Amino acid sequence: MTAAAGKGLEGVVASQTSLSFIDGLKGILVYRGYNIHELAPNVSFPESVFLLWNGRLPRRSELDEFEVTLAAQRTLDPRTVEGLKGLPAETVPMSALRTGISLEGVYDPDAEDNSAEANRRKAERLVARTPTIIAAIHRIRQGLEPLDPDPSLSLSADFVRMANGEPGTDEAVDALDRTLLLYLDHGFNASTFACRVIAATLGDMHSAVTGGVGALKGELHGGANARAMHTLLEIGDPENVGPWLDRAFAEKRKIMGFGHRVYKTEDPRATHLREMSRVLTQQAGLGKFYEMSRKLEDRMISEKGINPNVDFYCATVYYALGIPIDLYTPLFAIGRMGGWTAHVMEQHADNRLIRPRAEYVGEMDLRWVPMDER
Ligand SMILES: CC(C)(COP(=O)(O)OP(=O)(O)OC[C@H]1O[C@@H](n2cnc3c(N)ncnc32)[C@H](O)[C@@H]1OP(=O)(O)O)[C@@H](O)C(=O)NCCC(=O)NCCS
Repeated sequence: MTAAAGKGLEGVVASQTSLSFIDGLKGILVYRGYNIHELAPNVSFPESVFLLWNGRLPRRSELDEFEVTLAAQRTLDPRTVEGLKGLPAETVPMSALRTGISLEGVYDPDAEDNSAEANRRKAERLVARTPTIIAAIHRIRQGLEPLDPDPSLSLSADFVRMANGEPGTDEAVDALDRTLLLYLDHGFNASTFACRVIAATLGDMHSAVTGGVGALKGELHGGANARAMHTLLEIGDPENVGPWLDRAFAEKRKIMGFGHRVYKTEDPRATHLREMSRVLTQQAGLGKFYEMSRKLEDRMISEKGINPNVDFYCATVYYALGIPIDLYTPLFAIGRMGGWTAHVMEQHADNRLIRPRAEYVGEMDLRWVPMDER
């Protein structure tokens, strides 16, 4: 038998996709043929989901119709809300989200139907309802009743209203929406690959994306945006960056929000988030967090050759928007839900079981020994 691929499957091309393309050496990310730099300043999150699912940008009437369709699907099954209320108070939001998505799968009218039409309906419900679930989790943990969706608002505006109990400013809603677009899809990242493995067993859409939420939760993946913010809070002040990093380097600590398996240069998503962070922290009177971030970045690049990834500057964007830190990774999941569902549909449309081999490195030829002789 051949030797195992590199640890962590580094460099392995596991399958084909027409959803997104990454050039890790040049720092290029493409959704369906469009460079992320074309899309980020010009396209809303729902528009990017339409692009990913349909392979082309929508005309105005198509986008309007798509947004109406999504808005009409935002309301959770009441039994999902009851389930969320029954979770222990200390449940972390990513675990509550994983449970909420799974419950929606139980109650979904198309639960066991893997046809293209049913998958599309489920994908719409999942993208529409993930923000509602997260807002409900946030309300419930404050002892408040979840708010009903308002279909007259955009997905991002309604999320802010349902989570906070009051509407956000246009600028805050736009910034949030842009982060969702930047999080939409990213090749065979760990959570998306987890989704595809589940989908390839002909597992259903909700099973697949529930697995995706579980994979995203880890701090080497989506959990890094929250961890990056905790790092900045721990450092506390721009002048502490140097001594803090000296210690971190000495202890060989990993700095969250830096490094990437594929990008060996600037992560193109970070280019947008850095600028958003600069503007938003300034406006919120939190400019020192941007200053700290830049200092960290400068030293990480000059001394380690390691660049910030999507999660690093997203942390201060969300902090400036006043979002609780433990909701950063759930917000990542709202964006990535558009990608996960697209990958499940792509997998089901041309499926083969994903079942690699393992290189066995354990012992062989041992003989059974009776219990009282061991
Ligand atoms: C993303 C990540 C998991 C990629 O991991 P990977 O491809 O397996 O790379 P490795 O962990 O093997 O790192 C390679 C080298 O770079 C170093 N490195 C990578 N990321 C680092 C970081 N964030 N801080 C400090 N050193 C880092 C490793 O220590 C290792 O050094 P060594 O060869 O001297 O041991 C890794 O960069 C990481 O843990 N980053 C922090 C978590 C994070 O931000 N995740 C979000 C990713 S979008």
